[in-house]
Amino acid sequence: MLMMDHTGMSEKKWSEVVNAIEEIAPDYDRINSLITFGMADKWRREVASKAGPDDVVLEIGSGPGSFAKRLDSRQVYCLEPSRHLAEFSKGIIDRDRTSLLQGLGERIPLADESVDKVFCVFSFRDFIDKPAGVSEMLRVLREGGQAFIVDVAKPPPGPLAKLLDLHVKHLVPKLARVAASPAAYQRLSRDPYRTFYDTYEAFGFTSVYEELLRKKGFEQVGTEFLTMKGATMTRGSKPWTSTSS
Ligand SMILES: C[S@@+](CC[C@H](N)C(=O)[O-])C[C@H]1O[C@@H](n2cnc3c(N)ncnc32)[C@H](O)[C@@H]1O
Repeated sequence: MLMMDHTGMSEKKWSEVVNAIEEIAPDYDRINSLITFGMADKWRREVASKAGPDDVVLEIGSGPGSFAKRLDSRQVYCLEPSRHLAEFSKGIIDRDRTSLLQGLGERIPLADESVDKVFCVFSFRDFIDKPAGVSEMLRVLREGGQAFIVDVAKPPPGPLAKLLDLHVKHLVPKLARVAASPAAYQRLSRDPYRTFYDTYEAFGFTSVYEELLRKKGFEQVGTEFLTMKGATMTRGSKPWTSTSS
């Protein structure tokens, strides 16, 4: 595989991306809040409301726990490949209802048909192999269960797309430096968001996400904007009688 294409990235590039997120863990929420003008947590709350109290929920790519802490379902699984980020999230999530799993979305360590909802919140773009990840989501979902893929909005070519591109390329790295704590500022000799622009450019096409979901057997596939249209949520349902390809 090339370093990146529509459906995934090389393992070398992937390690770079995950290392960059690990570097900013303590400042992650502050940076995200600043670069999204306070919207990031609003989006997470909006998405978390899709999970019911009786649902068994899986979050793939839970990172420092910023989305998982917003879930109030009876049983939550947080799947995260980075030991460092999973460790960090322990101080944030509700340990009574939440189980931390180490691993990749491409190989989910859960049984077939064991969860009601799967969420990928700002993490699907980072998957090494997106088609494999979608097959796994379908496998672990119960019939009628739903998968949600949340990403930074990527409008079709035009003035808005240009504006967002400029924001991600030029403003985000500067804002990230401002939001980092003084200690991190010393440590972060390189731009911690250097990989964000790469993945923003390569991924986040909701048409690609929708096509993947349909191709793997999801139905009722569609995408909606979250508040202020700065993020998108693509969702699909597992058919009652599954027809995984
Ligand atoms: C930008 S963070 C998102 C964290 C959190 N979900 C949020 O709402 O902010 C992306 C996370 O996805 C994880 N990740 C990257 N590749 C992954 C993969 N193949 N499978 C599962 N998680 C992955 C990263 O380690 C990182 O913690």
